[in-house]
Amino acid sequence: MNSQHRSLIIVIIAFITCITILQSCKTDNNEVATTTPYLLNTNGNLPQPLLPADNPLTEEGVQLGRMLFYENALSRDGSQACASCHLQATAFVDSLKLSIGVQGLEGRRNSMPLFNLAWHNKGFFWDGRAKTLREQALLPIQDELEMDETLDKVINKLTAKNNYLDQFELAFGDATITEERIGLAIEQFMISLVSADAKYDKWKKEQATFTESELRGYQLFFTESNPQAIESGADCFHCHGGDLFTNAHLMNNGLDTDAEFTDLGLYEVTGLDSDKAKFKVPSLRNVALTPPYMHDGRFETLTQVLNHYNSGAKESSTLDPNMHAIIENGLQLSEQDMADIINFLHTLTDETYLNNPAYSNPFE
Ligand code: HEC
Ligand code: HEC
Repeated sequence: MNSQHRSLIIVIIAFITCITILQSCKTDNNEVATTTPYLLNTNGNLPQPLLPADNPLTEEGVQLGRMLFYENALSRDGSQACASCHLQATAFVDSLKLSIGVQGLEGRRNSMPLFNLAWHNKGFFWDGRAKTLREQALLPIQDELEMDETLDKVINKLTAKNNYLDQFELAFGDATITEERIGLAIEQFMISLVSADAKYDKWKKEQATFTESELRGYQLFFTESNPQAIESGADCFHCHGGDLFTNAHLMNNGLDTDAEFTDLGLYEVTGLDSDKAKFKVPSLRNVALTPPYMHDGRFETLTQVLNHYNSGAKESSTLDPNMHAIIENGLQLSEQDMADIINFLHTLTDETYLNNPAYSNPFE
């Protein structure tokens, strides 16, 4: 082989290698090349979120999750979407004592508000039974008291719609619709729901002022209860503290005595006696918009909730230690104290989030 031949062969090999590399880049990086990263906007008002490393947020994935959230085909008779029980105008609750599913049957619990879920790491639902949002997303679809549909049928129904084939391709690189992908897309939309622009947030940045009553409410909320001292507070922050206004733990806040326990909460998940009647501590952001309150919707107003904490809480085997302190002497809040706390809670209503067009029905 002369040197001319040799260089020709080298050129050909180099050419083939280049083509192969280019080809492989094209297929391997297909997703990376076509999706746009979705940026969570917390206005700098919340801590760093815990984002799932294996489900990076993309514009396309969040949009697909949004479509699925508002999709009636997820339910057996096509009458109900996730959004039927989770309405944006009320921080994504349905304002019913207990939610009602496609068969018209009442569920067991009060629907939960949806925002800042990326920060919850102790489980989802009142009893924490779903460890992740992707797992959570598939449960209401199959729950006979809710949407009452099988995942296979959902996949068939979605596969018949071109807009879904297109959006799955944009989000995942091909148009295959699977349970896993439905879960991942809804997880992305759930994570995208952020509430961090209430009057409280603006006040912290000195862009808004509190009334005297709101300020007193704020101080009472974040102060330890100690009826012996001059400065005695309402102790709310132990469980509803921080800028998320929840620790997202599961606790018993004294709604019932052992004999009165009907819904066993976390116990249903773990089987441990020490978990009986423990429920997820809800965030108090947007709480003025989410009556009725508690896992069973037993309280209709914030005044009733405050009366519960002030003097109505009950002893039980799983009562949180912070509540023992409250129950011993009662919080001894005056009518004015309670009104101030309620006025402070109203500063947690976030119009930006409630009216964010990115969270609304994409089909309207
Ligand atoms: C029939 C009404 C209804 C429908 C439909 C429904 N939900 Fe819910 N949702 C609820 C109720 C009630 C709870 C609390 C249930 C419990 O704790 O057992 C809840 C809880 C949740 C939670 C837990 C929030 C938290 O802080 O732990 C998420 C997330 C959620 N729903 C998202 C969805 C999604 C996504 C869909 C659609 C796939 C959906 N929901 C469909 C009523 C409904
Ligand atoms: C020991 C922890 C703890 C303390 C202290 C505490 N809470 Fe709660 N809070 C909870 C738990 C747990 C729930 C949910 C209970 C349930 O539904 O079974 C809850 C529920 C609520 C709700 C209902 C929210 C909803 O969406 O249904 C409001 C409002 C509330 N608390 C306000 C307060 C206020 C105000 C204070 C201070 C006076 C306070 N909490 C003190 C643990 C606590």
